[in-house]
Amino acid sequence: MSTATTMRVIEISAPGGPEVLRLVERARPRPGAGEVLIEVHAAGVNRPDLAQRAGTYPPPPGASDLPGLEVAGRIVALGQGVAGWQIGAAVCALCNGGGYAGYVSVPAGQCLPLPHGFSMVEGAAVPETFFTVWSNLFMRGRLAAGETLLVHGGASGIGTTAIQLAHALGAVVYATAGDAQKCSACERLGAHRCFDYRKEDFVAGLLAATADRGADVILDMIGGDYLPRNLAALAMDGRLVQIATQRGREAQLDLALLMRKRVMLTGSTLRPQSTAAKAAIARDLHARAWPLLESGRVRPVIQQVLPFAAAAEAHRQLEAGAHVGKFVLALAATAAHPLSPE
Ligand SMILES: NC(=O)c1ccc[n+]([C@@H]2O[C@H](COP(=O)([O-])OP(=O)(O)OC[C@H]3O[C@@H](n4cnc5c(N)ncnc54)[C@H](OP(=O)(O)O)[C@@H]3O)[C@@H](O)[C@H]2O)c1
Repeated sequence: MSTATTMRVIEISAPGGPEVLRLVERARPRPGAGEVLIEVHAAGVNRPDLAQRAGTYPPPPGASDLPGLEVAGRIVALGQGVAGWQIGAAVCALCNGGGYAGYVSVPAGQCLPLPHGFSMVEGAAVPETFFTVWSNLFMRGRLAAGETLLVHGGASGIGTTAIQLAHALGAVVYATAGDAQKCSACERLGAHRCFDYRKEDFVAGLLAATADRGADVILDMIGGDYLPRNLAALAMDGRLVQIATQRGREAQLDLALLMRKRVMLTGSTLRPQSTAAKAAIARDLHARAWPLLESGRVRPVIQQVLPFAAAAEAHRQLEAGAHVGKFVLALAATAAHPLSPE
């Protein structure tokens, strides 16, 4: 049972499979200068959490050793020098780690107000994918209205966010996914067409669908042998934005084709970026994406809500890969902010 100075957390007892996740008691963190302390009501689960649990994605220096990159909850304490937030405010936040816990300290600039009309569970499903997609697709990839986007892994947490945001902002979106059901889900979210990559060649499909023009931007979480295929699927002056390397970090690149198509190759990882860089993404998201969330044009897609103590089960299911969208862990509910998304 938690006391006033302790909290329940899910810790990684040793690198390994989902069974290494343990529910234990730890001391509550205190907010440092520029940080707020959040009482966590719900925590999002992301693929990078699986890599951290397996020991292949260690937390950056200074970050909590606990997993968890996003939460929703209430601010219960302000660190030195924090302006603009009040105790009691309902927020969702991008964490540097430590989100699988009753309380987490987060830099104030990485918090955003819980979108109007959102439950805590819905709020917890937003930060990691929205920060990642916004910074890569729009800030880095400069996707504009009227342009064509190809999203690989369209049914993932990242993919469902990218499809909806790009569609809402006027891009023509194509996606890839691993079965017919996932492809239908992507099309319901706004993809013009989703290619089942196990059955059809996405390069041929995209070129046929765009009169041989290709995509202005490709958001890729696959890597490896997708690099030459992505290059073939890009339009002139296209941008390839790499955010993960599920099929390998090394690949062959035809530099002559890159020059001929004037392609820009970029990418990023979110977690190691500075507090200032994350706060700049948060400001942009608040101005451009929050109105879409609050009007209901874009919603986080939630596959399942599990109790906090079932974090290992959430990891098992995310690893199994049959989902569309996100898994969220529920910690506590209040009358004003119920946990369930309905
Ligand atoms: N760079 C960053 O800052 C950053 C931040 C967050 C996440 N990420 C990365 O983004 C990816 C998605 O994260 P998530 O949390 O949304 O995880 P997730 O829901 O588990 O998504 C992984 C997706 O990869 C898809 N996939 C695997 N092989 C594929 C292939 N050959 N073609 C098309 N899709 C394929 C799977 O789709 P199917 O089942 O349909 O095959 C699945 O939907 C992860 O690799 C994660 O590490 C990067």
